[in-house]
Amino acid sequence: MRKELKSKAVVYPMPVLMIATYDENGKVDVMNAAWGMICEPDKIFLSLSESHKTVKNLKITKAFTVSLADAEHVKEADFFGIASGNTMEDKFERSGLTASKSEKVNAPVIEEFPVTMECELAETVETDNVHAVIGKIVRATADEKVLGEDGQVDVSKSGIMMFDPFRLGYYVTGEKAGTAWNSGKELMD
Ligand SMILES: Cc1cc2nc3c(=O)[nH]c(=O)nc-3n(C[C@H](O)[C@H](O)[C@H](O)COP(=O)(O)O)c2cc1C
Repeated sequence: MRKELKSKAVVYPMPVLMIATYDENGKVDVMNAAWGMICEPDKIFLSLSESHKTVKNLKITKAFTVSLADAEHVKEADFFGIASGNTMEDKFERSGLTASKSEKVNAPVIEEFPVTMECELAETVETDNVHAVIGKIVRATADEKVLGEDGQVDVSKSGIMMFDPFRLGYYVTGEKAGTAWNSGKELMD
């Protein structure tokens, strides 16, 4: 028997994305976003409320970075989703994390997060159904400690987190269930 759930939006996993921006004075802000996904090979779509300091910042600087948060920094990542740069002057300083300027875009790279995409603002979308920003990814970098011998990110040792919208948990898993474009092949014959 199937039971109806309270929430209709039951996508799992969702990402734990850290959106980092500068304000007009070069001050760093970071927010947590779960509603985001790749929408072209070099584009990322983020559903962001217009009221966030992050959105005000990226409309001024036309740039932002998106990092994948790891479990080692779960406290800071969650804090970035609770506090707002609109009302907390020292939001980023309180986190104790460090930022350096991206070489490619006018936005900060947060050193402690293992994987980062550096984005130019490509488009903002405001309709009755969508409040979103789309970034053109001009560079992606990863801390070498999360790379495997093949030079690719090894999720089993990265600690990169996933968000669970059912119980609001952050999870990590490196357990492999199959190989994409391969596990289904036997049903092709
Ligand atoms: C787990 C989690 C996921 C979130 N996802 C989003 C999201 O996808 N879009 C959004 O607009 N806000 C999201 N938020 C809320 C913002 O992170 C939060 O309002 C933050 O204070 C905004 O910071 P800012 O005003 O400094 O930019 C999320 C918060 C948490 C804790």
